[in-house]
Amino acid sequence: MEKYKRPQMERRLTALCTKRGFHTFGEYLDAASKDARLMDELLDRMTINVSEFFRNQSRWDALAQLFPALIRNNRIKAWSAACSTGQEPYTLMLLLSKYMPISGVSLLATDIDERALRVAKEGIYSEEELAPIEQELRNKFFRAVTSTQQQAVDEVRARIDFRKHNLLEQPFDTDFDLIVCRNVLIYFTDSAKDILYHKFAQALRPGGMLFVGSTEQIFHAETYRLKQIQPFFYQKL
Ligand SMILES: C[S@@+](CC[C@H](N)C(=O)[O-])C[C@H]1O[C@@H](n2cnc3c(N)ncnc32)[C@H](O)[C@@H]1O
Repeated sequence: MEKYKRPQMERRLTALCTKRGFHTFGEYLDAASKDARLMDELLDRMTINVSEFFRNQSRWDALAQLFPALIRNNRIKAWSAACSTGQEPYTLMLLLSKYMPISGVSLLATDIDERALRVAKEGIYSEEELAPIEQELRNKFFRAVTSTQQQAVDEVRARIDFRKHNLLEQPFDTDFDLIVCRNVLIYFTDSAKDILYHKFAQALRPGGMLFVGSTEQIFHAETYRLKQIQPFFYQKL
Protein backbone atom coordinates (compact mmCIF):
# COMPACT_ATOMS: atom_id res chain seq x y z
CA MET A 1 0.00 0.00 0.00
CA GLU A 2 1.27 3.48 -0.86
CA LYS A 3 1.57 5.57 2.27
CA TYR A 4 3.17 8.82 1.14
CA LYS A 5 1.39 10.89 -1.53
CA ARG A 6 3.20 9.94 -4.70
CA PRO A 7 3.14 13.03 -7.02
CA GLN A 8 4.27 15.35 -4.24
CA MET A 9 7.13 13.08 -3.23
CA GLU A 10 8.11 12.35 -6.83
CA ARG A 11 8.35 16.04 -7.69
CA ARG A 12 10.58 16.67 -4.73
CA LEU A 13 12.90 13.72 -5.32
CA THR A 14 13.11 14.08 -9.10
CA ALA A 15 14.30 17.68 -8.68
CA LEU A 16 17.04 16.52 -6.33
CA CYS A 17 18.04 13.64 -8.61
CA THR A 18 18.44 16.06 -11.55
CA LYS A 19 20.29 18.59 -9.41
CA ARG A 20 22.81 15.91 -8.49
CA GLY A 21 23.35 15.10 -12.19
CA PHE A 22 21.74 11.64 -12.41
CA HIS A 23 19.69 10.62 -15.46
CA THR A 24 17.51 8.01 -13.79
CA PHE A 25 16.18 7.60 -10.30
CA GLY A 26 17.69 4.09 -10.20
CA GLU A 27 21.19 5.47 -10.77
CA TYR A 28 20.60 8.08 -8.11
CA LEU A 29 19.37 5.54 -5.53
CA ASP A 30 22.27 3.27 -6.31
CA ALA A 31 24.75 6.11 -5.71
CA ALA A 32 22.93 7.22 -2.55
CA SER A 33 23.09 3.72 -1.08
CA LYS A 34 26.91 3.95 -1.31
CA ASP A 35 27.35 7.56 -0.26
CA ALA A 36 26.16 8.63 3.21
CA ARG A 37 26.03 12.31 2.31
CA LEU A 38 23.79 11.72 -0.71
CA MET A 39 21.57 9.44 1.37
CA ASP A 40 21.29 12.02 4.17
CA GLU A 41 20.28 14.64 1.64
CA LEU A 42 17.71 12.29 0.09
CA LEU A 43 16.14 11.47 3.48
CA ASP A 44 16.15 15.13 4.39
CA ARG A 45 14.19 15.98 1.25
CA MET A 46 11.70 13.20 1.95
CA THR A 47 10.92 14.23 5.50
CA ILE A 48 10.85 18.09 5.47
CA ASN A 49 11.64 19.14 9.01
CA VAL A 50 10.27 22.67 9.07
CA SER A 51 8.94 23.60 12.50
CA GLU A 52 8.44 26.66 14.71
CA PHE A 53 7.81 27.45 18.35
CA PHE A 54 4.11 28.23 18.92
CA ARG A 55 3.38 27.49 15.25
CA ASN A 56 -0.10 28.99 14.57
CA GLN A 57 -0.23 30.74 17.95
CA SER A 58 -4.04 30.96 18.07
CA ARG A 59 -4.29 27.14 18.02
CA TRP A 60 -2.01 26.90 21.07
CA ASP A 61 -4.22 29.48 22.81
CA ALA A 62 -7.20 27.25 21.97
CA LEU A 63 -5.35 24.22 23.34
CA ALA A 64 -4.66 26.00 26.62
CA GLN A 65 -8.42 26.52 27.02
CA LEU A 66 -8.80 22.74 26.90
CA PHE A 67 -6.14 21.97 29.52
CA PRO A 68 -8.60 21.79 32.45
CA ALA A 69 -10.24 18.77 30.76
CA LEU A 70 -6.89 17.14 30.00
CA ILE A 71 -4.80 17.70 33.13
CA ARG A 72 -5.87 15.42 35.97
CA ASN A 73 -4.44 15.73 39.49
CA ASN A 74 -1.61 17.88 38.12
CA ARG A 75 -0.59 15.12 35.73
CA ILE A 76 -0.77 14.76 31.97
CA LYS A 77 0.45 12.12 29.53
CA ALA A 78 1.11 13.67 26.11
CA TRP A 79 2.71 12.75 22.79
CA SER A 80 4.18 15.06 20.16
CA ALA A 81 4.12 12.75 17.12
CA ALA A 82 6.44 13.79 14.25
CA CYS A 83 8.11 16.38 16.48
CA SER A 84 10.90 17.22 14.03
CA THR A 85 13.61 19.39 15.63
CA GLY A 86 11.71 19.77 18.91
CA GLN A 87 9.96 23.13 18.73
CA GLU A 88 6.57 21.45 19.14
CA PRO A 89 7.24 19.42 22.33
CA TYR A 90 9.10 22.38 23.92
CA THR A 91 6.17 24.64 23.05
CA LEU A 92 3.82 22.18 24.72
CA MET A 93 6.00 21.89 27.80
CA LEU A 94 6.31 25.68 28.15
CA LEU A 95 2.58 26.17 27.75
CA LEU A 96 1.78 23.44 30.28
CA SER A 97 4.17 25.03 32.79
CA LYS A 98 1.69 27.89 33.09
CA TYR A 99 -1.02 25.51 34.29
CA MET A 100 0.75 22.79 36.29
CA PRO A 101 4.17 21.81 37.66
CA ILE A 102 6.21 20.33 34.82
CA SER A 103 7.26 17.50 37.14
CA GLY A 104 3.79 16.07 36.45
CA VAL A 105 4.22 16.12 32.65
CA SER A 106 4.99 12.87 30.87
CA LEU A 107 5.84 13.90 27.32
CA LEU A 108 6.84 11.52 24.55
CA ALA A 109 8.26 13.20 21.42
CA THR A 110 8.90 11.07 18.36
CA ASP A 111 10.05 11.43 14.77
CA ILE A 112 11.29 9.14 12.02
CA ASP A 113 14.32 11.34 11.39
CA GLU A 114 17.25 10.70 13.71
CA ARG A 115 19.07 13.87 12.76
CA ALA A 116 16.05 16.01 13.59
CA LEU A 117 15.77 14.15 16.90
CA ARG A 118 19.39 14.91 17.74
CA VAL A 119 18.69 18.64 17.33
CA ALA A 120 15.52 18.25 19.42
CA LYS A 121 17.35 16.48 22.26
CA GLU A 122 20.09 19.07 22.32
CA GLY A 123 17.48 21.84 22.51
CA ILE A 124 19.71 24.61 21.18
CA TYR A 125 18.01 27.29 19.09
CA SER A 126 18.89 30.66 17.61
CA GLU A 127 17.49 33.91 18.98
CA GLU A 128 15.48 34.19 15.79
CA GLU A 129 13.87 30.77 16.29
CA LEU A 130 13.10 31.56 19.93
CA ALA A 131 11.45 34.89 19.08
CA PRO A 132 7.84 33.57 19.21
CA ILE A 133 8.29 32.54 22.86
CA GLU A 134 7.18 35.14 25.41
CA GLN A 135 10.05 36.66 27.36
CA GLU A 136 9.05 35.33 30.75
CA LEU A 137 9.04 31.72 29.54
CA ARG A 138 12.34 32.21 27.71
CA ASN A 139 13.97 33.58 30.84
CA LYS A 140 12.67 30.69 32.87
CA PHE A 141 13.39 27.79 30.51
CA PHE A 142 16.31 28.78 28.24
CA ARG A 143 19.95 29.66 28.96
CA ALA A 144 22.45 31.34 26.60
CA VAL A 145 25.09 28.96 25.25
CA THR A 146 26.61 31.36 22.70
CA SER A 147 26.00 35.01 21.91
CA THR A 148 23.24 34.05 19.47
CA GLN A 149 21.94 30.72 20.76
CA GLN A 150 20.07 29.45 23.79
CA GLN A 151 19.50 25.96 25.15
CA ALA A 152 16.46 24.57 26.91
CA VAL A 153 17.31 23.97 30.57
CA ASP A 154 18.03 20.39 31.74
CA GLU A 155 14.86 20.33 33.81
CA VAL A 156 12.79 20.66 30.61
CA ARG A 157 14.92 18.50 28.34
CA ALA A 158 15.02 15.67 30.84
CA ARG A 159 11.23 15.62 31.04
CA ILE A 160 10.83 14.93 27.30
CA ASP A 161 11.32 11.36 26.13
CA PHE A 162 12.68 11.79 22.57
CA ARG A 163 12.45 8.58 20.58
CA LYS A 164 12.73 7.45 16.98
CA HIS A 165 9.36 6.19 15.74
CA ASN A 166 7.75 5.61 12.36
CA LEU A 167 4.06 6.50 12.50
CA LEU A 168 3.31 4.34 9.47
CA GLU A 169 4.99 1.17 10.70
CA GLN A 170 5.24 1.00 14.48
CA PRO A 171 2.72 0.40 17.28
CA PHE A 172 1.50 3.29 19.42
CA ASP A 173 1.67 3.65 23.19
CA THR A 174 -1.74 4.05 24.89
CA ASP A 175 -3.68 6.06 27.47
CA PHE A 176 -2.63 9.52 26.28
CA ASP A 177 -4.50 12.58 27.51
CA LEU A 178 -3.22 14.56 24.51
CA ILE A 179 -1.67 13.73 21.15
CA VAL A 180 -0.26 16.54 19.03
CA CYS A 181 0.31 15.45 15.43
CA ARG A 182 0.68 18.43 13.13
CA ASN A 183 1.95 19.07 9.62
CA VAL A 184 2.84 15.50 8.75
CA LEU A 185 -0.54 13.95 7.87
CA ILE A 186 -0.56 16.10 4.71
CA TYR A 187 2.20 13.92 3.25
CA PHE A 188 0.25 10.67 3.71
CA THR A 189 -2.28 9.02 1.39
CA ASP A 190 -5.93 8.77 2.45
CA SER A 191 -5.61 5.06 3.20
CA ALA A 192 -2.56 5.65 5.41
CA LYS A 193 -4.41 8.46 7.21
CA ASP A 194 -7.43 6.22 7.76
CA ILE A 195 -5.26 3.68 9.58
CA LEU A 196 -3.51 6.42 11.54
CA TYR A 197 -6.74 8.03 12.76
CA HIS A 198 -7.89 4.65 14.10
CA LYS A 199 -4.55 4.18 15.82
CA PHE A 200 -4.56 7.68 17.33
CA ALA A 201 -8.10 7.13 18.64
CA GLN A 202 -7.02 3.86 20.23
CA ALA A 203 -3.98 5.55 21.77
CA LEU A 204 -6.12 8.20 23.53
CA ARG A 205 -7.97 7.68 26.79
CA PRO A 206 -11.71 8.45 26.60
CA GLY A 207 -11.99 12.26 26.78
CA GLY A 208 -8.39 12.63 25.53
CA MET A 209 -7.63 15.03 22.68
CA LEU A 210 -5.99 14.83 19.24
CA PHE A 211 -4.58 18.17 18.00
CA VAL A 212 -3.88 18.28 14.24
CA GLY A 213 -2.36 20.84 11.86
CA SER A 214 -4.20 23.73 10.29
CA THR A 215 -4.76 21.99 6.95
CA GLU A 216 -5.42 18.55 8.38
CA GLN A 217 -9.08 18.49 9.33
CA ILE A 218 -10.47 14.95 9.76
CA PHE A 219 -13.56 14.18 7.70
CA HIS A 220 -16.16 11.89 9.32
CA ALA A 221 -14.27 11.96 12.61
CA GLU A 222 -17.04 9.92 14.27
CA THR A 223 -15.93 6.92 12.18
CA TYR A 224 -12.88 6.83 14.41
CA ARG A 225 -14.80 7.46 17.64
CA LEU A 226 -13.48 11.03 17.61
CA LYS A 227 -15.59 14.14 18.00
CA GLN A 228 -14.54 17.51 16.63
CA ILE A 229 -14.94 19.98 19.44
CA GLN A 230 -13.19 22.88 17.70
CA PRO A 231 -11.42 23.17 14.36
CA PHE A 232 -8.27 20.99 14.63
CA PHE A 233 -9.20 19.45 18.00
CA TYR A 234 -10.77 15.99 18.24
CA GLN A 235 -11.90 14.37 21.45
CA LYS A 236 -11.92 10.59 21.94
CA LEU A 237 -15.48 9.45 22.72
C1 LIG B 1 6.86 19.54 8.79
S1 LIG B 1 7.52 18.58 10.10
C2 LIG B 1 6.32 18.88 11.39
C3 LIG B 1 6.96 19.25 12.68
C4 LIG B 1 5.98 19.66 13.78
N1 LIG B 1 5.00 18.65 14.03
C5 LIG B 1 5.31 20.96 13.45
O1 LIG B 1 4.13 20.97 13.10
O2 LIG B 1 5.97 22.01 13.54
C6 LIG B 1 7.14 16.91 9.58
C7 LIG B 1 7.90 15.85 10.35
O3 LIG B 1 7.31 14.59 10.09
C8 LIG B 1 8.32 13.62 10.14
N2 LIG B 1 7.85 12.39 9.49
C9 LIG B 1 7.67 12.15 8.16
N3 LIG B 1 7.24 10.89 7.96
C10 LIG B 1 7.13 10.32 9.21
C11 LIG B 1 6.73 9.04 9.67
N4 LIG B 1 6.36 8.08 8.81
N5 LIG B 1 6.77 8.79 11.01
C12 LIG B 1 7.16 9.75 11.88
N6 LIG B 1 7.54 10.99 11.50
C13 LIG B 1 7.52 11.27 10.19
C14 LIG B 1 9.48 14.28 9.44
O4 LIG B 1 10.72 13.67 9.77
C15 LIG B 1 9.37 15.72 9.94
O5 LIG B 1 10.22 15.95 11.03
